[in-house]
Amino acid sequence: MNLKIVSGTDRPNSYALKVSSYVQTLYEQEGVDAEVISLEDFPLEEVVGGRYGKKLPAIEQFREPIINADGLVFVIPEYNGSFPGILKIFIDYLPFPAAFEKMPMAFIGESSGAFGALRSVEQFQMIANYRNALQFPERVFIPRIKNEFDEDRGLTDPFKQKLLDSQVKNFIKFVKATMKKEMDQLV
Ligand SMILES: Cc1cc2nc3c(=O)[nH]c(=O)nc-3n(C[C@H](O)[C@H](O)[C@H](O)COP(=O)(O)O)c2cc1C
Repeated sequence: MNLKIVSGTDRPNSYALKVSSYVQTLYEQEGVDAEVISLEDFPLEEVVGGRYGKKLPAIEQFREPIINADGLVFVIPEYNGSFPGILKIFIDYLPFPAAFEKMPMAFIGESSGAFGALRSVEQFQMIANYRNALQFPERVFIPRIKNEFDEDRGLTDPFKQKLLDSQVKNFIKFVKATMKKEMDQLV
């Protein structure tokens, strides 16, 4: 199974990237390879000036492992009550309508504020819904990220850690089920 964890910001030293790396270790413990892809590496210079519909090799190279994954885990911070602009730019440069079509997706929100990016994740989910993604219902929200997250030990609240562990275990099953469905359609 080929999962990708998308760290949803280009902010240097972001918690999104730290949470993504931690979540990667949880998938590793389950025997699943889940590479982290950071939007810090999105080739933004390639799209300056609005280069929609143009052939953009660096963008194609960046997005290729994401759109070819069996499933995606999005780690999304809260910026101005929404998700970061770079994440929307990334989506707007995906091929339409194929990208995200029937793509299994799980969501983790994180913020310095009290709501753990609930709004950001739900706004992102409206787009995922429009793009016919298969959205995994167990979501995890981490508020007050500086206090509630440790890079080595994970979440300080045992209840939320349980939710995260459950998301990881069950998302693997969810992705497997969608892969099986594809197989069934083939035979
Ligand atoms: C442009 C910007 C806007 C932000 N807006 C919010 C916000 O609306 N609500 C909030 O709780 N935190 C907000 N934050 C703080 C982030 O939640 C905080 O940086 C946290 O560490 C998660 O983001 P990170 O993954 O970039 O570290 C904002 C941060 C930035 C850079």
